[in-house]
Amino acid sequence: MPEYKYLSGFGSHFASEDSRCPNALPEGQNSPQKCAYGLYAEQLSGSAFTAPRTENARSWLYRIRPSVVHQPFERYDKNPFLTVNWDEQHPNPNQMRWNPFDIPAASKTVDFIAGLRTVCGAGDVRGRHGLAVHVFLCNSSMTNSAFYNSDGDFLIVPQEGSLDITTEFGKMYVKPNEICVIPQGIRFSVAVDGPTRGYILEVYDGHFRLPDLGPIGANGLANQRDFLSPTAWFEDRAVQGFKMVSKYQGALFVASQNHSPFDVVAWHGNYVPYKYDLAKFMVINSVSFDHCDPSIFTVLTCPSTRYGTAIADFVIFPPRWSVQEHTFRPPYYHRNCMSEFMGLIFGRYEAKEGGFLPGGASLHSMMTPHGPDRQCFEGASNAELKPERIADGTQAFMFESSLSMAVTKWGEETCSKLDAKYYECWQALENNFKI
Ligand code: FE2
Repeated sequence: MPEYKYLSGFGSHFASEDSRCPNALPEGQNSPQKCAYGLYAEQLSGSAFTAPRTENARSWLYRIRPSVVHQPFERYDKNPFLTVNWDEQHPNPNQMRWNPFDIPAASKTVDFIAGLRTVCGAGDVRGRHGLAVHVFLCNSSMTNSAFYNSDGDFLIVPQEGSLDITTEFGKMYVKPNEICVIPQGIRFSVAVDGPTRGYILEVYDGHFRLPDLGPIGANGLANQRDFLSPTAWFEDRAVQGFKMVSKYQGALFVASQNHSPFDVVAWHGNYVPYKYDLAKFMVINSVSFDHCDPSIFTVLTCPSTRYGTAIADFVIFPPRWSVQEHTFRPPYYHRNCMSEFMGLIFGRYEAKEGGFLPGGASLHSMMTPHGPDRQCFEGASNAELKPERIADGTQAFMFESSLSMAVTKWGEETCSKLDAKYYECWQALENNFKI
């Protein structure tokens, strides 16, 4: 694992310069008449200029060439499975569960961009409102190519294999049980070491933030200092035909340029990529009876304009103590005005011991009932309620959205991983009524 250096904090105003070029950051202003070392100054805006200070996001990059030095964009029709077409399939309200998505065989070279597959989503990239859930299934590194998403932020959840990510801001190594966020527009390239699989939550509306803590107080859940951003790193590398791939209005485009875009010598600002180790999540739950709603496990949220309602929450179900008395401890039976997409990084999810496997997924859509299977119900209804550890060696997560998501043709048909018998896990629930 490479020993990259990181900056600690969430939403902080960072400053970083590559140690090969001391004093590359200008003092006291953003764009001097001439930058040190002959660099160009470039602002990357992640919010409206006039957004309130609490939401204002921008960074200044001091780079060898400005980003605009590239050939015209051309259509890049190499991946038909990355889509924003939510009308490919007829709506389907059924509970859905996918067996683990296949990683391409080693005989076929597939990189991160070619391996993106859209599973479900909702909204409109042009109206900047909505979300998409993708998986990535790849086995080789991006070489002499980089990617950026004009449509929104990517929250990336590696499940199998680690991601060695070079960004304009520096390098991040992200392994399973860590996540990273690459905000809209930031250029990055992904190197992998063999078979690699994971999930992506893309939001069009705005950026991820930490949830408010309310009565919890100043500490808890995901703490600010555990978020890590890269430190400046650059290469001054000539490359004939370096491919800059952009996702713009849901379609892919490629522009050729003759140099590496990772030529940022120094930067400062608060619009940055970051990663987070899920093992550092401080778990809070009931210590009396019942258990809290799953929102108590929210790591990051992308709020909508409706107060308290998220475009998407990223929620985990981490290892913890279960101590509630007089309580059915697993997740309750549920119908929700939200969409719940779940994945499993490793282990066995407590409400579904079988069938929900690492690298697979489930989707419980608007008002579609869901809950523990019979085996879980019987076990938890009769278990001795002593304090016990649950979810050790397990990390399940949920992308929960207030939007009603459509499943793509790839998700419902092409991937061939949908478990048609998922509904059967509830059919054996008996009528226990006694009067
Ligand atoms: Fe639920």
